[in-house]
Amino acid sequence: MTDIEFDQNHYISFSHFLEKACGIVLGDNKQYLVRSRLTPIIKQFKCVSINVFIDSVVKGNLQHKTAAVEAMTTNETLWFRDDYPFRLLENSILNQFSNKKTAMRVWSAACSSGQEAYSIAMTTLNFKKQRPNAFCAGVEIVGTDISQEMIQRCRIAEYDQLAISRGLPKQFKSDFFEPGNNGNLRIKSQVRALANFRSINLLDSYSSLGKFDIIFCRNVLIYFSHEVKRQILQKIAACLQDDGILFLGASESISGLTDKFVMVRCNPGLYYIKKPI
Ligand SMILES: C[S@@+](CC[C@H](N)C(=O)[O-])C[C@H]1O[C@@H](n2cnc3c(N)ncnc32)[C@H](O)[C@@H]1O
Repeated sequence: MTDIEFDQNHYISFSHFLEKACGIVLGDNKQYLVRSRLTPIIKQFKCVSINVFIDSVVKGNLQHKTAAVEAMTTNETLWFRDDYPFRLLENSILNQFSNKKTAMRVWSAACSSGQEAYSIAMTTLNFKKQRPNAFCAGVEIVGTDISQEMIQRCRIAEYDQLAISRGLPKQFKSDFFEPGNNGNLRIKSQVRALANFRSINLLDSYSSLGKFDIIFCRNVLIYFSHEVKRQILQKIAACLQDDGILFLGASESISGLTDKFVMVRCNPGLYYIKKPI
């Protein structure tokens, strides 16, 4: 790639493309971020410059579009992120659903490499260890993300030592992991069996996913505009059961976006309950 200037017009057309494709709002002056995220794929596709690559994305080259969205998503995640959602699950929320006549269904929307979905699965198995009769009708955890690469990683369920070291308690490591390839650890099959993964763009329809008892939609709304957040929260409400539960990220809120939920403050943390229609 030659070091041709990344001009403002190309930055603006890339920003428009990205917001339309996946909701991510770049705002002003993020040229450095776009440049650093796109440089490896521009090299991979042997494009002569960032402007030429962006022209191709904007004209609709599917391979380039997909790679650009993959590159611009932030996949930061860890096990038991923020701790309190999993404590609340274990100490009160799971109990509420443990005698259901149908399977308890949980959705980890924007699940990245799977740590959130598998943390929910491990919490549920731990809960069931104390109460063997709980969840007789089963548990289904659905993890979704826009990134095909992340979904592939979720399905493989192998994590390197750095990923393992981020938030995973020792007991969970010894109970629920086994040796994998190249020094990695793999999630055991009893945990994997609770979860399935597929690629879903939160801007699209989720009606094919069915209804859920609990939804985790954490650390993704922060990237979107007010209007996109509002639309996503409407669609999330539509696929939650009445009295279903929603967890957002620690810095996210529904304030000014929807009146479909009631906030429940806990100490620490909070969650939302869908108002019955
Ligand atoms: C920062 S991670 C959050 C992962 C996890 N929920 C957590 O809290 O640890 C954000 C994820 O949102 C995904 N994402 C971004 N835009 C999306 C969209 N429009 N639809 C679905 N997923 C999206 C990214 O691919 C990324 O994996």
